[in-house]
Amino acid sequence: MTRIAIVTGANQGIGYALVEELATRLDPTDLVLLTGRDAARVAAAADRVRTGARSRVEGRVLDVTDAGAVAELAASLGRTDIVISNAIGPLVPDRPQSEQADEFIAVANGGTHAVLRSFGPTLPPGGRLIVVASALGTLGRLDPRLHPVFDGATLDEVEAVVEGWRAAIHDGIAGEKGWPGWINVPSKVAQVAAVRAVAATRRDRDVPDGTLVAAVCPGLVDTRASRPWFSDFSQALTPARSARPVVDLILDPLDPAKYGELVQFGKVLPWHSGKPPRYQDELVRDPVVLGGLPRDVDA
Ligand SMILES: NC(=O)c1ccc[n+]([C@@H]2O[C@H](COP(=O)([O-])OP(=O)(O)OC[C@H]3O[C@@H](n4cnc5c(N)ncnc54)[C@H](OP(=O)(O)O)[C@@H]3O)[C@@H](O)[C@H]2O)c1
Repeated sequence: MTRIAIVTGANQGIGYALVEELATRLDPTDLVLLTGRDAARVAAAADRVRTGARSRVEGRVLDVTDAGAVAELAASLGRTDIVISNAIGPLVPDRPQSEQADEFIAVANGGTHAVLRSFGPTLPPGGRLIVVASALGTLGRLDPRLHPVFDGATLDEVEAVVEGWRAAIHDGIAGEKGWPGWINVPSKVAQVAAVRAVAATRRDRDVPDGTLVAAVCPGLVDTRASRPWFSDFSQALTPARSARPVVDLILDPLDPAKYGELVQFGKVLPWHSGKPPRYQDELVRDPVVLGGLPRDVDA
């Protein structure tokens, strides 16, 4: 049977590499949808992947901040076997994060919520619903005052917490409420919390069916998103190399221990692990965040 895979934010970086890897490893009858917000960039990227692809590849315009468009695409496809929510908006250190928060949160968190809500129900037994998050996304990265708001939260609750955090940024009170200055951190914790929320509602059905809902960390990868934040890329992966363990997770039989979890290079990063950094800079030197590919995965 023909399988359909979709990747959001896939005209460059890790999303592009995930499409390439899927298109190399899926069957010629399968279809990989490379999506992004800009028609010209999507068409150019889809043309590039098609050269050398084994499966079929099509480009589709999908701005993940448009929840209606996400819902429409999910409904028009009817059944999607492999769904990867990957898109992220630009975030740079030389502009106040309060000025960048709306777009950043709308893409990373609004986009994730829209994909989980609209594509989740279209997943057939054996399907894969994956959110590209980060090793920054464990609960332990946040001030302990914030743990209860995410721990065990439903998707509606995660959405409300994200909205409250966004409002606190604009009101200038995010810091006093414990939210870290680097908005990527709460954004990633919220993505993992959203995955856990959805997974909790469907685990009993999914695990016997061999269906996987999970978050992944691709490691430190040299892309537009990471370049402004890390000075040392000696341990960084290429997007192509980072995509392989993610596609391994997708194509391997379900390991129930990974269901609903955050997985980095095939291993679960426990939800409560990680520590809040004393200084913002500490995170960009954290070995788990920097995590180059371990030798056993490289083999
Ligand atoms: N790079 C790393 O080291 C690293 C580490 C851990 C996790 N991650 C995660 O990996 C994922 C991919 O990151 P990346 O490093 O590959 O980033 P990237 O190179 O900046 O690519 C981001 C992609 O998202 C697209 N995008 C932006 N806004 C969009 C929207 N509204 N709708 C749809 N697509 C949109 C971009 O399209 P345009 O080209 O049109 O802007 C681009 O294709 C992110 O979730 C990121 O947090 C990355």
